[in-house]
Amino acid sequence: MRLAGQTALITGAARGIGLAFAQAYLREGAKVALADIDISRARKEAESLGDKAIAIEMDVTDEGSIKNAVGQTKEAFGGIDILINNAAIFTAAPVVDVERAEFDRVFAINVGGTFFTLQAVAREMIAAGKGGRIINMASQAGRRGEPLVSAYCATKAAIISLTQSAGLDLIKHGINVNAISPGVVDGEHWDGVDNLFAKYEGKAPGQKKQEVAAGVPHGRMGTAEDLTGMAVFLASKEADYIVAQTYNVDGGQWMS
Ligand SMILES: NC(=O)c1ccc[n+]([C@@H]2O[C@H](COP(=O)([O-])OP(=O)(O)OC[C@H]3O[C@@H](n4cnc5c(N)ncnc54)[C@H](O)[C@@H]3O)[C@@H](O)[C@H]2O)c1
Repeated sequence: MRLAGQTALITGAARGIGLAFAQAYLREGAKVALADIDISRARKEAESLGDKAIAIEMDVTDEGSIKNAVGQTKEAFGGIDILINNAAIFTAAPVVDVERAEFDRVFAINVGGTFFTLQAVAREMIAAGKGGRIINMASQAGRRGEPLVSAYCATKAAIISLTQSAGLDLIKHGINVNAISPGVVDGEHWDGVDNLFAKYEGKAPGQKKQEVAAGVPHGRMGTAEDLTGMAVFLASKEADYIVAQTYNVDGGQWMS
């Protein structure tokens, strides 16, 4: 077990990739707090995962909620060794139609949520003096632009940049900050993406998914499980010398 004795706070863990990370960390011996704005689903999942998992209601855009999530994780497990900043939303529209309220919302969740959760957990890790691991969720969308996805792409480019700056700043405290950049991962998130492309590109439901799957060099969309190996590795002792990096786990979609 590569994460025995470790405790992890994972945001957006009620479903999808965050939930798969929680399950993988539990398999590796960690204790896990599943934090999500959808507390009923997080609670249902945590209950099915046993007594090393807890659910915490958390809105990453709210300072008080971040503080509460950090406090509850500490109270339940005695500290936080690993943070995965996974919570995010997707949005799409032609650049001339993006409304400021939607732009602000996606930046508040994807960038502000990641930044200030990282900050709050880093403060705890520094105070505890044991170092730690912080993993941010970027995206291939942060590696290059997409015509209908200007705001979301910009948030994910910001995550790559934040990972570099925070990584360089926090390694002196023994805190390794790195990121994972997935490609196209099937699940409820991508069902929503598919609906938006159906709207803006006049595609039939499911058509965009088929097209993106066919375009992945590996030959299929990713699954949440495809990402868990990297999430475990970055949290493990083996990754001690890795700092401020963003790793593509995307079936060959992007090379950098
Ligand atoms: N699915 C993909 O194809 C893909 C590709 C690249 C990157 N990513 C990134 O991976 C991460 C996980 O993606 P996913 O596919 O599992 O998404 P998802 O939409 O299935 O899950 C996101 C979770 O975040 C939660 N959430 C939303 N707003 C929140 C808030 N304000 N506070 C707390 N929780 C909140 C949701 O309730 C949900 O449980 C995201 O950062 C996403 O941008 C996903």
